[in-house]
Formats: sequence, C-alpha cells, structure tokens
Amino acid sequence: MDKPSETRSAEDRVIIFDTTLRDGEQSPGASMTLEEKLQVAEILDDMGVDIIEAGFPIASNGDFEAVNEIAKLVKTATVAGLARAGAKDIDRAAEAIKPAKRGRIHTFISTSPVHMKYKLQMEPEQVYEAVIASVTRARNHTDDVEWSPEDGTRTEHDFLCRCVEAAIKAGAGTINVPDTVGYSVPEEYYALIEMLRERVPGADQVVFSTHCHNDLGMAVANSLAGVRAGARQIECAVNGLGERAGNAALEEVVMALKTREDVMPFWTGVDSTYLTRASKLVSAVTSFPVQYNKAIVGQNAFAHESGIHQDGMLKHTETYEIMTPESVGVSATSLVMGKHSGRHAFREKLKGLGYELGENAFEDAFRRFKDLADRKKHVYDEDIEALVDEEIGTADDRIKVMALTVIAGTGGPQKATLTLDIEGTHTTREATGNGPVDAIFNAIKEMVPHEAVLALYQVHAVTEGTDAQAEVTVKLEEAGKTVIGRGADPDTLVASARAYIHALNKLVVKRARTKPEALQAG
Ligand code: KIV
Ligand code: ZN
Repeated sequence: MDKPSETRSAEDRVIIFDTTLRDGEQSPGASMTLEEKLQVAEILDDMGVDIIEAGFPIASNGDFEAVNEIAKLVKTATVAGLARAGAKDIDRAAEAIKPAKRGRIHTFISTSPVHMKYKLQMEPEQVYEAVIASVTRARNHTDDVEWSPEDGTRTEHDFLCRCVEAAIKAGAGTINVPDTVGYSVPEEYYALIEMLRERVPGADQVVFSTHCHNDLGMAVANSLAGVRAGARQIECAVNGLGERAGNAALEEVVMALKTREDVMPFWTGVDSTYLTRASKLVSAVTSFPVQYNKAIVGQNAFAHESGIHQDGMLKHTETYEIMTPESVGVSATSLVMGKHSGRHAFREKLKGLGYELGENAFEDAFRRFKDLADRKKHVYDEDIEALVDEEIGTADDRIKVMALTVIAGTGGPQKATLTLDIEGTHTTREATGNGPVDAIFNAIKEMVPHEAVLALYQVHAVTEGTDAQAEVTVKLEEAGKTVIGRGADPDTLVASARAYIHALNKLVVKRARTKPEALQAG
C-alpha cells in the first residue's frame, strides 16, 4: 500500500487494471505459454493489482484456456476477458471468466471516423446500436461490465458522448477511454476525460478509465493526466508491454503516484516491492529485454556511476535518490553462495528471491546450481535467477539437451556433437557449420527436422566478468507462428543449444493449438 492510512481518501483510490496478459501478450513476439501466463497472473495477484485482463477468449482456444485457468487461480483480483461487440465474443468471454471469484467482461468497438469507415465498414448509427446490444448482452452475464470506444481519442466528441451515455444506460460500470494509437498529449487527454465527465448524463455513476499507448512516449503522462481529470482506473502493463510501443508501464504509474503524492494525492493497492520481480518475470517469459535505463526497473535505475554522484550518495542518499531501491524490491547484488552451499541455504536463497519450486524443479535447479558453482567463481543472485527462470520455463519440455562437444577455432569447419533426449530416447548427431553455433543448430535440425526459420539470435551476459553466464535468446518463425526460447550457461554454446531447443519445444506446443482466426485489438 502506498500511503499512511490517515491521508487516504476512498475517492482518491486508483484502480490498477493490468493488461500484460492481453494487450501485452498481443505484441509481436511476446506470446507466452499457459504456464508462463499463470506465473504472471499469480505475481500480479500477489502484488495487489485490482484487475487482471487475462486475454481475449474468442481469439483462440489457447487464449480461452488461459483466461479460464487464470480465473480459477486468482485469489483476490478481478479477472477480465476482452470481447468485441459481437454476441459470440461476449458469450465466449463470459464462459472463460466463469470460475473467477470476481469476473469482468470488457467489450469494445471502434468509434473514430477512420476506424468506423475503413476497419469496421459500419455507419455511426450501426456502431451506436452495437454499443447498446453488446453492453446489454454482457450485463446479462455479469454485473461487472467495462466498455471501451476503441480509438476514443480520435473520436468526434458529440458521437463519443452519445456512445458513452448509451453504454452507461445499458449497464456498463466502467468507461475506458483508449488512446489506441498513442496520439494524445496530457492536456488534451485531461480535457477529454473532463469533457466526458461534465457532459455525459450518468457519468457520476461510473468509473472512468485510462488506456494509453506509448507511441509518442506519453502513455504514463497521459494516464496520470486522466486521473487528475477524474479517471480512477489506469490500464497498464508490466515493463510497458503492449501493441507497438506498448502501454503505460505499470511500475512507472505506481511509483509516480507513490513518489509524488505531494502533487498527485492518489493511491493504489499495489505493493511496490513486487515491481522488480514482476518485471524480471515478464522479461524472462517474453524474452523482451528491459532497457538498461528504463525507469523503475532498468538495471541502471538505481546505479550511480559518476564520482560526483557517488560522493553525494555516500554523504546522503537523498542527494540523487528520489525513491529507495528497496521500495521497488531491488536487493543489492550480493555474492551469495558457492560450491559448499547446501540444499537448505539454496532453498532459503530462492525464497528470498521470490521463488517457490516444487520438489522436482527444486532438485533440478539445485543440481544446475552445483554445476554452476563448480565452474564459476562467484555466484550472484542474477545467476541464480537466470538458472531458475530457465528451469521453470523448460520443466515440461519434451526435448532436452543432454551433452554437447564443439570443435571451434580458426581451422574450420566447426563441428558439433550433440546428444538430445527426445521424449525419453537419447539420440546423438554430429554436424558441421559456418561457425560453432551454426554447427549446433544443424545438428539439432538433423535430429528434430522442422521448417522454422531463425529470426533472432541474441546473447546477453547475466553478470560481469569473463566467467559470466551467457543468456541466449532464440526466436523461431514457422508458418506465421513465432516462438522464443532462452538458455543460460557459462558456456555460450551450451546456452545456445538450450535456447534453440527451448524454442522448438514451444513450437511443438504451439502447433498443437490451433488459432481459428486472427483478431486485432490495440
Ligand atoms: O488500445 C485499445 O484501444 C485497446 C482496446 C481493446 C481497449 O486495447
Ligand atoms: Zn490497447
């Protein structure tokens, strides 16, 4: 919680609506498996997010299943499912959220001239009728209905007011105002929310919500302007994930409200000490790296490099620090453990880092930690996080890397001998390639034939020093499907093999899930 209770007022409470698993997951390359979505939902629930938009149930069986499973899992938050204005969408969303303690249907339709004419090919009056029909249908399923005019910030004001009024009359309790294309500026967005609250009959009976995209880098500023104008819900995503340049970043919104209560007397129910863990988890499961200088959760957000800054910090932390690292859950990097550390110490360390593993996953992680400690002098928290994140991501994999030997160097051609466990059977192949990584990938292709194309190969050092673990990211594309795999190891080549195999495993799962239709929702 943000503020001492005596300074809080109920009218100033801002609802945090997280859309990492819907708008965020929609962004190209950010798709997550069901297990990964469940992990993200769990941490969002634990940190005190009020509403988790878990997906777009009509989009695919996988999306439906994710919303449905999250609805069963979540303890406190409301679980929302997105739906277009059609009856099928709304009924499917209602079905998906049924197991939730608190469920919401979020239905939307475009209202801007350009969207109505070219995207929907509907007349404004048809859209107006669809608003009434969709909200009415959603209300027959649940009392908690949110309505959004897509491309709201580019919608003609009189028409927007008519649609909002109709949605309220039909029973919507939340009116979301999307800046779908990230075009607005704070003064304008403020004026839009103010105008709606002043002009629309019944506006005082509903919660206004912001949904701002970051195309011009103003998503957070616009969201806060909306709150100052009377909105009391912010739609946002961890690490600012979302379509194109993303949505307002959850961690920025929460910390801006918390840190600047002197100028913005609003508060949220989010426990900010979860922010770093949530950011790392979302980055790990999407393989979207967090920019080093990203506000709140970037690696450098609390680093002080220059002599003048360090000197100031040593004299008094407030010289250069407006919030403490602890307030967002950053623990100072510490030399944690070595090869003599036992199971108990490792379990305690995992707990401290926020991981709770089942027995099998724990044993696997412990074995890999011991291997790492044998090979790497200093084992840091980041090393353990990389190792465990990979363990969690690959626990159910059908194909596993068992052994790898590589001959590399100036002599060429480089050669890899790789052993894989493919659903319980060990197979070994030797292959050459244009470099060691190419040789490894060729060996994999011989054992697991596939048509996928390598769209990205990226190496990142988890910590500093020449013995640092390498974290490799591999993106594969096959028939319009994209998957991302990760692997970590002090040996970059082993990490590369693991990452490729991780991606292939995901591809196998994805192939089994059919996408009936491609849908768009910014
Ligand atoms: O950006 C947008 O307009 C959306 C809506 C579906 C709310 O994501
Ligand atoms: Zn959006």
